[in-house]
Amino acid sequence: RIAGPCSVVMFGVTGDLARKKLIPAIYDLANRGLLPPGFALVGFARQDFGDQSFSEMLKAAAQAGARTPWRETVWTQLEAGIRFVPGSFDDDAAWLQLAATMAELDEQQGTGGNHAFYLSIPPGLFPVVVGKIKEHGLADQSGGWRRVVIEKPFGHDLASARELNTLVSEVFPRESVFRIDHYLGKETVQNILALRFANGMFEPLWNSHYVDHVQITMAEDIGIGTRAGYYDGIGAARDVIQNHLLQLMALIAMEEPVSFNAESLRLEKQKILANARPATPMAQHTAQAQYTAGWAGGEHVVGYLEEQGIPEGSRTETYAAIKIDIATRRWAGVPFYLRTGKRLGRRVTEVAVVFKAAPHQPFSKNDIEELGRNALVMRIQPDEGVTLRFGAKVPGTTMEIRDVLMDFAYGGAFVESSPEAYERLILDVLLGDPPLFPQQEEVELSWKILDPVIAHWQREKSIDTYTSGTWGPPTADAMMERDGRTWRRP
Ligand code: BG6
Repeated sequence: RIAGPCSVVMFGVTGDLARKKLIPAIYDLANRGLLPPGFALVGFARQDFGDQSFSEMLKAAAQAGARTPWRETVWTQLEAGIRFVPGSFDDDAAWLQLAATMAELDEQQGTGGNHAFYLSIPPGLFPVVVGKIKEHGLADQSGGWRRVVIEKPFGHDLASARELNTLVSEVFPRESVFRIDHYLGKETVQNILALRFANGMFEPLWNSHYVDHVQITMAEDIGIGTRAGYYDGIGAARDVIQNHLLQLMALIAMEEPVSFNAESLRLEKQKILANARPATPMAQHTAQAQYTAGWAGGEHVVGYLEEQGIPEGSRTETYAAIKIDIATRRWAGVPFYLRTGKRLGRRVTEVAVVFKAAPHQPFSKNDIEELGRNALVMRIQPDEGVTLRFGAKVPGTTMEIRDVLMDFAYGGAFVESSPEAYERLILDVLLGDPPLFPQQEEVELSWKILDPVIAHWQREKSIDTYTSGTWGPPTADAMMERDGRTWRRP
């Protein structure tokens, strides 16, 4: 799968995401030979780098973030198609220059009128950018394909998500809109569907008869770093539950799709999201909290309120846990517990399907040294793989039972290396391949699940705290205890 000739116009090219992820991914794609010779990358931003220093900045970003080895020849070839257009997003003269640059590249680089507009910018800038794309005729599909790539947040609630969609859909047809949820670009996330539907032995157990509950954890050890401006007022639930964790839940819970095309996948995910609700009363089945000073990776770290750029008394949550019920025949009575947080014990994302205990145990209590619930754990990152936990006889002269783990690790099983999520997604945009991109229906349904939880939290008078480096607030543990369960320690 090699992309055809095209150019990418990047808005927000000087931002964190572009430098850390997007530019390195483009280099890696080029290095793997997946970009066509006729490829161009155009930066549009206020800072005036001039072509040369702009490409120097990109080179530094690519060198710092690339996953594949550095090859100067690859960069030199890529550099031939790099341009920079200085200007602010509301400046018509700059847009005229952008249009001229695109036309020139179509000729010189042979990009053939195929243009992707990558919006890695705050949502507040969307109206002006999308409006100008339209005004200057840049979305006109007659001269080649024109696509738009949108980074989250897709609004901050249902109403704003709809507004955003109206705005975009007035300029780009549905099939030209690519919403990025980078979790869907991860190998281990795509493997959820392979594990479930390529095998015979899991699916018969994948329902309320055998599954006790599901835990989806996305824990980070980092704090908010330099992202105060984005994060404050957004919080953990909007930042990652609305998108990454609800997508994971949908992939775990959905029925087998008719095929793996975008529409079939969307249809099945949509059925799950439409039937999912936060468990009530929310005061008992959700938890939210903010980190305070503590230790992370052997270093003393400050609390959220002491981070640079956080307004005094901010009540933004950096930890969120929500219990979700899915009202379908397959999942009735099986809670899905979703949790995420910054400054937790360590960086780990996993999905654990926890099974019911055997209906009868022919062992005496004394025989059981340690027997938790059987669990199938999909280790999304960083230690990618799948673990099955079950009880086994402890070697010896008595019948004692202890939990053991059976492991599949990517590194041990495959020689192929995993592309970074953004490599996969950018390539799919250029190929016009939509299955890994959430669609508007999913975005809206996810906000419908989350909006009442956030409204509930906003009515609470204060926010709990947890010490950096721990596994979250006591209220999150209490939420599980009420159900007679505990959070896994990944
Ligand atoms: C982003 C969030 O979507 O995902 C960040 O905005 C978070 O807050 C990041 O740190 C985590 O991504 P990953 O791939 O490192 O798990």
